[in-house]
Amino acid sequence: MTDDLLARHRAVLPPWMPLYYAEPIELVSGSGRRVTDAQGRSYLDFFGGVLTNMIGYDIPEIREAVERQLATGIVHTSTLYLIRQQVELAEKIAQHSGIPDARVFFTNSGTEANEAALLVATNYRRSHQVLAVRNSYHGRSYAAMGVTGNRTWSASALNPLQVAWLHSGDRVRGLLARLSADERLDAAVEDLREVLATQTSGDVAALIAEPIQGVGGFVHPPDGLFAAWKKVLDEHGILFIADEVQTGWGRTGEHFWGYQAHGVTPDLLTFAKGIGNGFALAGVVGRAEVLQAVPGISFSTFGGNPISTAAGNAVLDYLIAHDLQANAARVGAILADGLRSAVGGLDCVAEVRGKGLMLGVEFVRPGSGEPDPALTNRVFEACRDRGLLTGKGGLYGNVLRMGPPLTLTEDEAREGLAILVDAIRSSAEVTA
Ligand SMILES: Cc1ncc(COP(=O)(O)O)c(C=O)c1O
Repeated sequence: MTDDLLARHRAVLPPWMPLYYAEPIELVSGSGRRVTDAQGRSYLDFFGGVLTNMIGYDIPEIREAVERQLATGIVHTSTLYLIRQQVELAEKIAQHSGIPDARVFFTNSGTEANEAALLVATNYRRSHQVLAVRNSYHGRSYAAMGVTGNRTWSASALNPLQVAWLHSGDRVRGLLARLSADERLDAAVEDLREVLATQTSGDVAALIAEPIQGVGGFVHPPDGLFAAWKKVLDEHGILFIADEVQTGWGRTGEHFWGYQAHGVTPDLLTFAKGIGNGFALAGVVGRAEVLQAVPGISFSTFGGNPISTAAGNAVLDYLIAHDLQANAARVGAILADGLRSAVGGLDCVAEVRGKGLMLGVEFVRPGSGEPDPALTNRVFEACRDRGLLTGKGGLYGNVLRMGPPLTLTEDEAREGLAILVDAIRSSAEVTA
């Protein structure tokens, strides 16, 4: 019984690890883009375990690749031995990264990937000063939390880095809101120059940024900002780290990586979530010269292990063979256009935003523009009641987030869209 499981969960797991929904659900089976809970209710999944089930559930090619590895009897060897699957996946990621002369280091989570990127950047530059972006989320270790610009997710103020903060380029909130895209870009570059001059001693190690802020509610800066920032960074030799944990692998539809919308190549790129389709797989890829800048041994027992890299190879091969980036663009447009025309004009909707299959709806109180997390939660629960799983996010918890598997079909997109529109309209009526 789920009720019993909920009581047991609460008795033994910490309360700061949140559960979704007033009545939490246990997902017990899945196929394609659909999951079934312990009560036998089926859902179309528009959140994919936080953008992680990138290909979907029970995909034969991935299952068989993992089963083949299991059948060898080798689940783990440690990276002290050669691992064929790890080498093959590193070759593919290096090639797809767009970073010249790339090297790859595998970890188990996005947090560790960012930790590794910050480790090499601070060593390479011999500086612990880092630039980060307001409203960001980069993980839960001290350094990753240290560059996280969201109080809800900052579980500790302890920070091994000295961090200076840049504006996110948000269109809805903050000092740069309401400016045109060009004005926002110029203002953000001016802000970077001012921050460097006033809050740092110049010899900064790196800037870390998400092309689209995941936890931050899919806020993204104007296209081209990262290149404009990079011009300034290059004047000082400061590295640029793109956190592609949510935006990578074609999810944005228009590009394979989020950074490519900006016409810039990062020095370091971190990845996680989707590449394992649920298996724990993450890492950092970067220019050899930078990634090699570690003065001691740095070793991850499980990083790059044969099971997760077998899954990763199968995921990447599937993604490329089925051109899921193009699917994300095509199916994402159905969702984005449908949402904009059906609910974009409602007084309670500040913005429908995002790219490809990474879409958010920000809810506000009509008139004041104040964030409305209560309405967001009603919509979120209403979606679930109607058989659709979504996510929530944003600095104020007032953004509904959609990040379905990239295999989402057009019919499924229309089915989910109809539920979203009905849930938003009926929840907004309660408010009106
Ligand atoms: C952009 C971004 N970076 C890093 C992380 C941390 O990844 P993990 O939870 O795998 O440690 C997340 C997780 O949501 C993320 O969204």
